Amino acid sequence: MNAYTIDDLKTLAQRRVPRMFFDYADSGSWTEATYRANEADFQKLLFRQRVAVDMTNRTLASTMIGEDVSMPVAIAPTGFGGMQHPDGEMLGAKVARAFGIPFTLSTMSICSIEDVSEAIGGAPFWFQLYVMRDRDFMHNLIDRAKAAGCSALVLTLDLQILGQRHKDLRNGLSAPPKINANTFWQLASRPRWCLSMLGTRRHTFRNIVGHAKSVADLSSLSSWTAEQFDPQLSWQDIAWIKERWGGKLILKGIMDAEDARLAAASGADALIVSNHGGRQLDGAPSSIAALPAIVEAVGEKIEVHMDGGIRSGQDVMRALSLGAKGVYIGRSWLYGVGAGGEAGVRTVLDIIRKELDLTMAFCGERDIRNVGRHNLVNPDVLKL
Ligand SMILES: Cc1cc2nc3c(=O)[nH]c(=O)nc-3n(C[C@H](O)[C@H](O)[C@H](O)COP(=O)(O)O)c2cc1C
Repeated sequence: MNAYTIDDLKTLAQRRVPRMFFDYADSGSWTEATYRANEADFQKLLFRQRVAVDMTNRTLASTMIGEDVSMPVAIAPTGFGGMQHPDGEMLGAKVARAFGIPFTLSTMSICSIEDVSEAIGGAPFWFQLYVMRDRDFMHNLIDRAKAAGCSALVLTLDLQILGQRHKDLRNGLSAPPKINANTFWQLASRPRWCLSMLGTRRHTFRNIVGHAKSVADLSSLSSWTAEQFDPQLSWQDIAWIKERWGGKLILKGIMDAEDARLAAASGADALIVSNHGGRQLDGAPSSIAALPAIVEAVGEKIEVHMDGGIRSGQDVMRALSLGAKGVYIGRSWLYGVGAGGEAGVRTVLDIIRKELDLTMAFCGERDIRNVGRHNLVNPDVLKL
């Protein structure tokens, strides 16, 4: 693929994917200030370059929640992945497996838990769960994730209510797309995408349709999702979910040291410092700015991961330097899959791996597990 940066892939994706789905990925809530800060704040952290140190035999291998990873980068759960490219989530899981990194499937994915499991020959992956009012359906999802051999449950805590994203409203986003005067041209101007979508039968939220009560058809789905996220979610819910799941549990969406302490006390295996990619509370700090205080508060008690704004291996290095044990890529993988399906995701991971490896070497490190604040000239520049 003719792409050297994640930005190249973003440009390619924009050319190939209908506007409503490209914009769905490339948007934040309200003014998008937090979305922009997630990316921009990384640039403020400067590396400490070292010279004349042995740079041979480098390794990016590490662990996340005790699982071996070829680099500490996981694919984040993202809705509508299979609308960026046919069967997008199945392709993402395949590539992640080949790379030896975790793939996290969203509740709101197009391909189902069972589709992804089949695509990777029953190998383990991670599943992300939303807390929903329909507890029977949550049990159904947890049990299906168990049956598919998922090795971690990522429980998202920052979507009790839905942030407003103006572009989605303007574009008339839905899966599958509803045809009207607004959406017709969005689709007609991407004929290759339309044609490719005829090659798959996966066009809607397959974790939900046919599994949740009262979602037999598509007309009921949009109202179901709007009503299902549970505004009463509490730490007690985490206890019963942990119990029913019985495996590794990761809590996603922590931005505050006090919440991080509660997460550590809940007995979860890891937390993810995340503002949902700037898609929920606009005006919240960037994830990378929130990370150090959380590491300081709970870094000894629970594994701390982060996501938000990672667009290069250099950003991965910065997050690890500030104490993250692992990171997740959301939009980066979506741009890759939108730009070129399986090859696009492979290109994303190749770019990130290469940039991370070279940056680590320039900083005088040979083992990613030794990276820390000492690799930055100004580790406190983002202090809140
Ligand atoms: C298009 C899109 C869809 C998302 N869908 C979900 C989701 O279904 N569940 C979830 O927990 N997080 C979801 N997220 C948030 C991501 O998991 C992750 O926190 C975020 O994308 C990280 O920021 P980045 O995109 O800048 O890497 C979504 C993010 C994007 C961009």
